[in-house]
Amino acid sequence: MNRDTPLNFDFVPYWTIPFRFFLTAPLFALIAGMALSVLGGMLLFGSDTALWQSRWFKEVILTLHLVTIGTVTMVMVGALFQVTSVVGGCLLPGGKVVPASVYGCLTLGVMLFSIAMLNDIAWLFAAAACLLVLGLMILAVCGLLAVSRAHRSSPTLMAMRLSLISLLVMIAVGGGLLLMHGYPEIVGFDRRWTDFHLLWGLAGWVGLLIMGVSFQVIPMFHVTPSFNLNFQRWTPVVTFLTLVAASVIDFFYAGGAVSSAAKGLLLACFGVYGIQVWRLLNKRKRKIEDVTVMLWKTAISSLMGFMVIQVVLECGWFGIVNEKAWLLNGVLLVFGVIVSVLGGMLQKIIPFLSYLHMQRFCAGNFEAIKSLPHMRAILQIKHSRYFYRLHLSSLLFLMLMILVPEVTLVAGLSLCLEFSLLFYMTARVAVMVWKAERNSLVVNVP
Ligand code: HEM
Repeated sequence: MNRDTPLNFDFVPYWTIPFRFFLTAPLFALIAGMALSVLGGMLLFGSDTALWQSRWFKEVILTLHLVTIGTVTMVMVGALFQVTSVVGGCLLPGGKVVPASVYGCLTLGVMLFSIAMLNDIAWLFAAAACLLVLGLMILAVCGLLAVSRAHRSSPTLMAMRLSLISLLVMIAVGGGLLLMHGYPEIVGFDRRWTDFHLLWGLAGWVGLLIMGVSFQVIPMFHVTPSFNLNFQRWTPVVTFLTLVAASVIDFFYAGGAVSSAAKGLLLACFGVYGIQVWRLLNKRKRKIEDVTVMLWKTAISSLMGFMVIQVVLECGWFGIVNEKAWLLNGVLLVFGVIVSVLGGMLQKIIPFLSYLHMQRFCAGNFEAIKSLPHMRAILQIKHSRYFYRLHLSSLLFLMLMILVPEVTLVAGLSLCLEFSLLFYMTARVAVMVWKAERNSLVVNVP
């Protein structure tokens, strides 16, 4: 851990705040799995359904956002409430009202997004846009306020600031895209905005937050050396500036050599970061089997696969299978890279947070602290191992599904199994913490 940015555990939000996001996230991935299973079933046993032919098909945008908003953003928001306070030394403003409003808007917003996409109902697109933009804007503004009031400066806080600015750009455009779906005759439809939105969502909001948080959690959870301080200071800033350039150039000169070069540079930033993470993980002190490390390595391998396919895509060498290659790359990036990293981080954050809270409930009573479960026993290793295996099989089936759509049913079922397990693992810990709190109240209240 950096000596210049010590963590602060005096400011810890009430445990249900991050946990409600962590508990809900697997449920949306489960719904995505169910949607895939239904689509796959229809293809196998029903009508002339055509699947995974184009990135513009509704089933693609629907399942993608169940995962990117319902699961990925849900986990990141939960983690943000926690990390801002621990790294910055102050809580997000707004007490319990802010997390409750963000949670409500996100949950309802994703549901309306999905129903609107399925049924093409104009006013539902508008309602989903209002809820998602409102919820995520509250989060971004409160997050930026908390970061600006932080008691110290650190590269993690800088990366968080840039990620939250990216979130504002991404949701503004995302809301506009929903309105374009609902009211194309009034708003018009310009798909250059889709590419703009996805760059800011994936590289900005998700990429920069993962980068910033990893500067703290990789050395802390895996006992590795710290990231080089200059690397920590400059990588998020350079990545952000490259993102600005790449998105603007791509908007005005899509398909040109300059646009490909700018996007290549953006990819290179993440490539260098990925290599750095891999290098540090190999230097960890205790080289025991660790599911989080395996998930990090899966993510970095997927990122390298994504980069190779992206270069071939930009060169136009895929010809008529371009759309398939695009979708395959989408699976690699969203599921192979992002979901792997977040799934891995949860394996560490959940036991760490729950132990921290249970220890606080003991209020300095050493007998009570001694009776707490060991951190490694809070999430059972065998469950984490099953989760990893299911994650690999989901990734494989999802990629295969793009090439052979008949595999969609199996991919959906694998996703259902994986995220039912993650929900069970998280719920088991939440019950453990809840019981510890209840017992502490019984002991402490005469
Ligand atoms: C982490 C958050 C998000 C990520 C990573 C993300 C990513 C993406 C990606 C990759 C696409 C392109 C899909 C394709 O080419 O097939 C897309 C499209 C879209 N996104 Fe998002 N998105 C996110 C959040 C949002 C939010 C919050 C909204 C709404 C407020 C939104 C609305 C849309 C819409 C309507 C489209 C379809 C555009 C079209 O049909 O051309 N997204 N998003």
